Amino acid sequence: MGAKRHFRVWRGDETGGDLQDYQVEVNEGEVVLDIIHRLQATETPDLACRWNCKAGKCGSCSMEINGMPRLGCMTRMSTFEESETVTVTPLRTFPVIRDLVTDVNFNYQKARETPAFAPPEDLAPGEYRMQQVDVERSQEFRKCIECFLCQNVCHVVRDHEENKKAFSGPRYFIRAAELDMHPLDAKTDRKDYAQASMGLGYCNITKCCTEVCPEHITITDNAIIPMKERVVDRRYDPIVWLGRKIFRRDQLSEGDGLGMSGLPQADGHGAEHKSGVNWHREVPAPQVAPVGDDGKLPISEITFDRAGGPSPFGDDVTFPLPPEGLNYAHPDRDK
Ligand code: SF4
Ligand code: SF4
Ligand code: FES
Repeated sequence: MGAKRHFRVWRGDETGGDLQDYQVEVNEGEVVLDIIHRLQATETPDLACRWNCKAGKCGSCSMEINGMPRLGCMTRMSTFEESETVTVTPLRTFPVIRDLVTDVNFNYQKARETPAFAPPEDLAPGEYRMQQVDVERSQEFRKCIECFLCQNVCHVVRDHEENKKAFSGPRYFIRAAELDMHPLDAKTDRKDYAQASMGLGYCNITKCCTEVCPEHITITDNAIIPMKERVVDRRYDPIVWLGRKIFRRDQLSEGDGLGMSGLPQADGHGAEHKSGVNWHREVPAPQVAPVGDDGKLPISEITFDRAGGPSPFGDDVTFPLPPEGLNYAHPDRDK
């Protein structure tokens, strides 16, 4: 017989509940789901918990274990200290049905809203051909087991019920990215759709979703960031971002240490700014995305060729910028 360990399990329903303490036997090699089953078999036959495969493949046994979203069937008891209390609570982002079972309908709703694969019109079923190389990038997204741990951990909806309407979440961003990279998908505006209608702009790439994914899908780096980089043009273009930071025409005033010529002048602090970074220039106010009341970007944002706002460089500037157009000491400035 194994040692007794201290467990705290949330018990309750949509009207409320609390954590209850249990001393449960734990044996070598067991996982948290084993302990939940032991509780059901011994002390609390009415403890509700969803599970199916006990092999990390069905995505049913999602729960929060010591505050971390995890699969109960893939969390070994050996990962905890012998004296550690193991606290098991339901997923926080979704409404509780009972005990550890939550209503994940939000995710199915978002799945229905995500446009399906669009086969090419000039090919009949059976004529589709793909090579392995065509799907190399998107294949990892197919590993998703729909455990919704990423959806649960994402701060955009975790404590913000009001964002759920406009935000599909990381699981559906990888779906959009997968279809966007699909060699036969005929729908060409996946990225724009993700930005305009799935709330891609809400994501500030904290990477929490990637951290909790039991399938180790690199959600942020491989799906979200590539879509963000390409989708809305200038707003997410790193060159423009850099340009906004270092060169704004409306900031080229005396107080910046640079005149309209872009050449060094006496700065607002009485010192001549000749080399190094001009620390005294005014930092531009951050620009927020023009998101409407419903949390969506207006369609003009993605169709307008200057989407994302006017260029911080103006219309008459060619690249690369001349050395005198920069407000740091370019090595070529004095040549
Ligand atoms: S990276 Fe984006 S989608 Fe993922 S958890 Fe963070 S905000 Fe949410
Ligand atoms: S992407 Fe990962 S964390 Fe999100 S639902 Fe799929 S398997 Fe779960
Ligand atoms: S029971 Fe299927 S993933 Fe845990």
